Amino acid sequence: MNRVIDLRSDTITLPTDEMREAMRSAEVGDDVYREDPTVLKLEALAAKKLGKEAALFVTSGTMGNLIATMTHTTPGDEVIVEENAHIYYYEVGGMARIAGAMPRLVRGRRIGIIIPDDIKKVLRPSNIHFPKTTLLTLENTHNRGGGIVIPNKLMKELYSFAKGKGLSVHLDGARIFNAAIAQGIPAKEIAQYADSVMFCLSKGLSAPVGSLLVGTADFIERARKNRKILGGGMRQAGVVASAGIIALEKMVDRLKEDHENAALLRDRISKIDGLYVDRDGIFTNIVMMEIKRADIDAQTIVDALKKENILALPTGKNTIRFVTNRHIKRDDIHFVLDVIGGIMEKNV
Ligand SMILES: Cc1ncc(COP(=O)(O)O)c(C=O)c1O
Repeated sequence: MNRVIDLRSDTITLPTDEMREAMRSAEVGDDVYREDPTVLKLEALAAKKLGKEAALFVTSGTMGNLIATMTHTTPGDEVIVEENAHIYYYEVGGMARIAGAMPRLVRGRRIGIIIPDDIKKVLRPSNIHFPKTTLLTLENTHNRGGGIVIPNKLMKELYSFAKGKGLSVHLDGARIFNAAIAQGIPAKEIAQYADSVMFCLSKGLSAPVGSLLVGTADFIERARKNRKILGGGMRQAGVVASAGIIALEKMVDRLKEDHENAALLRDRISKIDGLYVDRDGIFTNIVMMEIKRADIDAQTIVDALKKENILALPTGKNTIRFVTNRHIKRDDIHFVLDVIGGIMEKNV
């Protein structure tokens, strides 16, 4: 049997041998007492790479985003969110249920990209009837936006606009290193335009588990308390943090390869009749394919791909997501393209 080409997500990446070895021999302690040297090392490294004062190791991206919302807001506050953002779309309503915050949705000119004028449309003046708006969340790269990057010039505009309105800014930077590599800049140049940033170790960087929340020392101190409320205070977490250190030190530069494979997929798919992929923007390791024919839908294509041991994710009736990652090689992309071409021809 052929091996499986798994393009559903970059979360499927397995830890490297070096990570497994580091996990086996990690120096650990009780992290709730701040006695785990490996967690402390990872947090210091994360803060440095993102240009922030402090960092907090959390179990997942979802937990990092939730803790950030809890820490920036008071229950009842309004949070400005792009309408397809992961924090709103895929995080089980935690923002409302647990942080007690009310999302106010913003629609941009395309999924994932909003400009200050879009936010202006939903901002309300202070009034006895209105909730207090305290936070703007951004997502870079944008998952449902097909891995699109918010260009750093726009990040700057959004940040200064938000600051002018007295809002805090939280960046869901689950894939901030993809955004950095795609623009040829260090991640801290993006992070400077957010008060807090969450990023994931367990996606393209291949660590088995974990995300980090970074911000000012005071913000992270308060976030640590919120992590404890959620049951996220971990003990000998250095076992997994050790893999995270390798993810940050050794796995960032290779994301370029994932971007090149995704670019090939994107370019070739856009030439197949009946399929559409947006190419207007800076893209990374996600390809969102739209089916423009009425006689074939996403599930039919995903099922046909599966017969050839190719896994992809339907994200709507007519959209399929492909995510390149460390286990996908250039030859796999050529094979996937041949299979997609064949499916579209056979179904004419
Ligand atoms: C943009 C974005 N934010 C947050 C998350 C949540 O991360 P986790 O799955 O670790 O909770 C994801 C996961 O795919 C994501 O794509």
